[in-house]
Amino acid sequence: MIIKTTGHLSMIKKSILIKIITLKSIILFLFAGCSNGTNETAQLACSLDDPCNIRFPHVTAPSTPKGQAAALFEELAEARFPGRVTVDVYPSSQLMTDDDSLPALFAGEIQMIAISLSKFDRMTQAFQIFDLPFLFPNIEAVERFQNSDTGQNLLGTLNDRGFQGLAFWHNGMKEFSAPIPLRVPEDANGLKFRIMESDVLEEQILNMGGSPQKMALGEVYQALQTGVIDAQENTWSNIYSAKYYEVQPYIMETNHGYIGYLVAVNPDFWQSLPEDVRTGLEEVMDEVTQWGNQRAEEINLRDRAEIVASGDSEIITFSEDELAVWQQSMRPVWEIFADGIGRENIAIAQSLN
Ligand code: SIN
Repeated sequence: MIIKTTGHLSMIKKSILIKIITLKSIILFLFAGCSNGTNETAQLACSLDDPCNIRFPHVTAPSTPKGQAAALFEELAEARFPGRVTVDVYPSSQLMTDDDSLPALFAGEIQMIAISLSKFDRMTQAFQIFDLPFLFPNIEAVERFQNSDTGQNLLGTLNDRGFQGLAFWHNGMKEFSAPIPLRVPEDANGLKFRIMESDVLEEQILNMGGSPQKMALGEVYQALQTGVIDAQENTWSNIYSAKYYEVQPYIMETNHGYIGYLVAVNPDFWQSLPEDVRTGLEEVMDEVTQWGNQRAEEINLRDRAEIVASGDSEIITFSEDELAVWQQSMRPVWEIFADGIGRENIAIAQSLN
């Protein structure tokens, strides 16, 4: 059992425990290979004597769209099932990285995740559609695609790999930040960019002449500060809450990509819940998804305004013609991934733009 504590000794014990959990779950995950990751599981009680606990780690700050939605899920789920369901949200990579949480969910060490769609890259090509640069012009277009039949089918894509998708949560559109202004893609030539674990994002940076470095979110600030990397891409809310703007003099408002999350559970765990709890939690998830997705853009705009007010970073904006140059130059990246994603899926997304 993981206990939320603050003392130094407890922190050390917690960190040892996390390492053991992570190691155990990675071994299970590797050995499971392509199996569906489900076992026969006894029905959980979820009673006052034996409450069901949902451990829900994530990597962003409590103020971000995901942080706020996860906290609301905890509040509403516990209010709906007082004493029967407890939810422990661990924000800001407090418990583990996204990389570690995939095997941990699979192994049943945690019960819920909300991981960037980009980071499922190694498991399914279907989600690569969300990383194609300049495919979606804004969050509304992403939402139309996610709500389409094609988008809703994507929620079930990873069921047979042990991840049952419950919802898509938005963060927002991505911007580049760098030590120099990037007015055209070629300005990135030679810069080292932190990217999420995604082959599409790797090609995107290579296409700009940059050097991509896959890295966990929690390591980025220090890597920027110490020059291990020069530049990065993220949403306004992540750039603000992780304080990248303090160490990046320029932010380019390209809105070139999307960060959103698959909220997923272990299907085995989910099926083991009593039916009233499972359906009740699914209703709570729907309510939270609607609330969070409506607020995500507002949160990003609020954080953009905070960055402007700080005066630490200059924001470079682009005319439509200037953005067209970026869009055109990144188009070859689509061609590399189009067959794997499915050209018909890309066409559907474009038709909903
Ligand atoms: C997140 O928003 O959850 C993380 C995104 C990143 O790793 O850049």
